[in-house]
Amino acid sequence: MVAPKATSAYAPSSLRAPIEALLPRLGIHRGYDDVPALGKAVATLSASYNTAGVAAGKAHYAARLAFSLPRDVPKAAHAVRELVAAKALTFPDGRPLRILDVGAGFGATTLGALQALEGAALGEGRGKVEVTLVDPEEGATALAKTFLEGLKGSFDLKVVVSKHGISPDGSIQPDLLPWFGDEPFGFAEASAKAHPERAESMRAAGKPSTFRPVKEGQGFDLVLFGQVLSELDRGLDSDARIARHVALLERVLATRLAPKGTLVVVEPALKERTRHLHAVRDRLCTNESVTLFGPCLHREACPALAKETDWCHEDRPDVLPAWLVPVARAAGLRWEGVTFSPLLLRKDGVTLRSTLATNGNRTLRVVGDVTPTKGKVEAQVCGDGPEGEGPQRVRVMRIDRDRRENNEAFDELSRGDLVVLEGPMVRPDRIGPETTVSRANPV
Ligand SMILES: C[S@@+](CC[C@H](N)C(=O)[O-])C[C@H]1O[C@@H](n2cnc3c(N)ncnc32)[C@H](O)[C@@H]1O
Repeated sequence: MVAPKATSAYAPSSLRAPIEALLPRLGIHRGYDDVPALGKAVATLSASYNTAGVAAGKAHYAARLAFSLPRDVPKAAHAVRELVAAKALTFPDGRPLRILDVGAGFGATTLGALQALEGAALGEGRGKVEVTLVDPEEGATALAKTFLEGLKGSFDLKVVVSKHGISPDGSIQPDLLPWFGDEPFGFAEASAKAHPERAESMRAAGKPSTFRPVKEGQGFDLVLFGQVLSELDRGLDSDARIARHVALLERVLATRLAPKGTLVVVEPALKERTRHLHAVRDRLCTNESVTLFGPCLHREACPALAKETDWCHEDRPDVLPAWLVPVARAAGLRWEGVTFSPLLLRKDGVTLRSTLATNGNRTLRVVGDVTPTKGKVEAQVCGDGPEGEGPQRVRVMRIDRDRRENNEAFDELSRGDLVVLEGPMVRPDRIGPETTVSRANPV
């Protein structure tokens, strides 16, 4: 598998100059040298998220562009990387790759996806990417378009923006899709212009004029929901909100996603937001037409939901680019690595599990810290139970005196890794001298 190039134009470390080129438009004239102004703006943004859970409006643009964007790119890059490594996301032959970024803001999630795609085979599409940024914050997506199209990366980017967000019935307005031709999703823009009365009466009647399943050759290869689900429907109670988001994602899968495409949801790793995502996942998994690609290796009820104090999230030890560190410090933020909660959905039956060569052996995802304690190493894992048992979230250990060449890979594991256990265990939760431990990471 090909790892993304360290020099990727889409990686946070390369974004300083392109961001600084835009900051004067937001009142920051000395770029990252203006640490006090940026620190203050980031502190205000952070306070707004902590109190209101959202941060809307132009007052937050400088902090979002200068700080949140480069901080958040790795979240989407990590979320999409397994998809690329598993060859479940490739450049299509004969047409550009199509990305729909919902709640795009300044495009961090798109950038992360592009970073993950660097090194992927380009096919006849030759690295052409068409990105549609959807966000009610027009000012943000207008800047994002300038920013993304100006990047000197290996892809040829065309960016379209739409100020329409997701409307309360879950539809995304038809004028999102200007280049798709006539009426691929129903009553599209051209028709709406030609027949304004019909368009108006359909809207007035609340008819989901865009709700028509995508056909082969249509739809987006990637639909991204980067840290936006958390911002939707915050006034609803928990059950209604889960139902609403299940319906929304089902609708987007049916009407926006290409038949072999992937819908990628990335949420903040906070307990309450992640448990909401687990509940949405569980409900979606009762719908047989929804494929759960990952990160889970199974579609049974999420074991993390069983215990109220549990939640399952990624935590990568990535470092903040050096030029962001003073801003984080000035804002009083501590940097503890990249944390996020992903959910990847498809509709073609292709799962992460089905792309791993594990020979039917017990396969697990490391979902917690791997802790070497006195005399043993322990890891929290989720996936196949021991023979005859269903999926489980359990702690598995290996005591030091059972360490052998065939199981030493257990010492090197970290959160997020995929691991295969082969051969006899001492107990279902204890690796023994005859157990072979290997990584199944497709990357
Ligand atoms: C936390 S930002 C995330 C931005 C970007 N996706 C990222 O990952 O960095 C959430 C974005 O969702 C947008 N948003 C809020 N309500 C929306 C809606 N109903 N439809 C689409 N986007 C919405 C906000 O304007 C904001 O830009």
